[in-house]
Amino acid sequence: MCGIVGAIAERNVVEILLEGLKRLEYRGYDSAGVALLDGEGNLTRTRRTGKVKELADALHTHPSKGNIGIAHTRWATHGGVTEANAHPHFSSDRIAVVHNGIIENYQRLRSELAAKGYGFDSDTDTESIAHQVHYELDQGADLLQAVHNAVKKFEGAYGTVIIDKNDPERMIVARSGSPLVIGFGIGENFIASDQMALLPVTRRFMYLEEGDVAEVTRTNVTVYDQDGQIVQRDIVESDIEHDAGDKAGYRHYMLKEIHEQPTVVRNCLQGRLGEHGISPNIFGQDADSILDNIKHVQIVACGTSYHSGMTAKYWLEQYANVSCNVEIASEFRYRKSFVHPNSLLVTISQSGETADTLAALRLAKSLGYSSSLTICNVPGSSLVRESDLAFMTLAGAEIGVASTKAFTTQLTGFLMLTLALGKHNGMSETDHKAIVDGLHSLPSKLEETLSLTQGIKDLAEEFADKHHSLFLGRGDQYPIAMEGALKLKEISYIHAEAYASGELKHGPLALIDDEMPVIVVAPNNELLEKLKSNVEEVRARGGIMYVFADKEAHFQSDNTMRVINVPHCSAAIAPIIYTLPLQLLSYYVAIIKGTDVDQPRNLAKSVTVE
Ligand code: G6P
Repeated sequence: MCGIVGAIAERNVVEILLEGLKRLEYRGYDSAGVALLDGEGNLTRTRRTGKVKELADALHTHPSKGNIGIAHTRWATHGGVTEANAHPHFSSDRIAVVHNGIIENYQRLRSELAAKGYGFDSDTDTESIAHQVHYELDQGADLLQAVHNAVKKFEGAYGTVIIDKNDPERMIVARSGSPLVIGFGIGENFIASDQMALLPVTRRFMYLEEGDVAEVTRTNVTVYDQDGQIVQRDIVESDIEHDAGDKAGYRHYMLKEIHEQPTVVRNCLQGRLGEHGISPNIFGQDADSILDNIKHVQIVACGTSYHSGMTAKYWLEQYANVSCNVEIASEFRYRKSFVHPNSLLVTISQSGETADTLAALRLAKSLGYSSSLTICNVPGSSLVRESDLAFMTLAGAEIGVASTKAFTTQLTGFLMLTLALGKHNGMSETDHKAIVDGLHSLPSKLEETLSLTQGIKDLAEEFADKHHSLFLGRGDQYPIAMEGALKLKEISYIHAEAYASGELKHGPLALIDDEMPVIVVAPNNELLEKLKSNVEEVRARGGIMYVFADKEAHFQSDNTMRVINVPHCSAAIAPIIYTLPLQLLSYYVAIIKGTDVDQPRNLAKSVTVE
């Protein structure tokens, strides 16, 4: 989704901005732009639809310079993908603005500003920010005050950076609903929507909080809270690897991230899982005493993270004896829901910035939940800062839009949460030992599973000309089937639906023919015989099946069924293990189809608008 980079320095900031934008490409976008203000007071702007490379080429063909600059990658919400709608937006060739989020009352603002004589060159909500600030300046405010006044008029979400041609010593930034981080250099300062953008220039960051407005000069940063009072925000040192953005020799980030899973799962377990169980308080300070009272878990998330929550429900109810509901964040936040006594609200998120999940957490705070926990991959993100407890998945930067290693580390975290809650709710010794042993074996089992790559590549050939597919699973493999279908949709654009296989008779059987591949996840568990009956129902109707199965499940390949044997593993970790072949399948189908694997069309990595 949209990305922001800003810089104020002695030197020309063009390359800093372009490098920052490149590092934000993974978020998904459709156009990009830069505005630069030089020492002679010239404000210039370059915008392009398409990739950052087009913008970089334009800036290299017609060199521009500036010691202050703001840059943006846009993921269209209001107005089509055109150069005129790309940011930065100007007001009277004086004010330049980049913005993430949505100004929901923009139509009213546009009418008011039009009545005051402002003309609009774009269809965006953002242009009204530029004009509103300009209007406040015209009323006699200085730039800082103008932004303070302007933001009072905005409804919705914004992370915005504003520069004024007539005030060339500072950038003003404002945050409400869309994250912004200030990066501290030596004699130069930076701003971005995501610290990834700034890692080549600094490791010292300050996260703005809701309602903050900040003045950023070359040497100083002053932050004002929503009441206009000067406040101190912590400066943190980032430990993200500088080269986290490298593909390490892999063709795509997604493939690199799939292959990193044994390592990152090992990192996620390290220091948290001992020989006989989990270490104390791995979910945060005082977590054990907080979890001691929990009798119900409400999970809220979006996308792939929602699927890990769905899997966790099976585990928490089966092993930890704790009741659990799972809901899509955009649904949860807009309905009246029942809060069980002693409930823990768990948000799951790779980015920690997904707008609906964050809004759900904020809503939950007013609903009477005992406590909140986030299972998240990005340190310092909004969900981490605003939750009572945080469990970091330690998957490292995930760049591919389609989530892979974030998902398997989330599931690893959930198995540990199952152990933690189970301890207080009568989990059996046998289940406890099975999960602990399963977790110990997980990294090596994941490594073993990656060796299926060649067989899956061959299988992918049979998919590439298909338009629809069906994924089937039962029990805790049903959410894994859902995740498999999501992966295929996201990166190969093949329509894929997942069903709990017991539901086959209630509709999807009508779709079965030899043009509709059916993918089945079949570990050797207590539901195997039921699943085998479902497989026969598909076979009887001429369906072609691809079965990912435990060897001991005794499926045989024949002319209607291809069996891919997945390494034998314990039941507790099977959902994590069976995720890998499905990730590989979508990846290789996408390769054959020639899609943009890391940045699939229309999708964004971090969805910071609702
Ligand atoms: C987007 C991403 C998905 C991700 C979802 C939730 O749709 O493309 O990969 O699962 O957002 O994101 P989160 O960061 O909250 O896990």
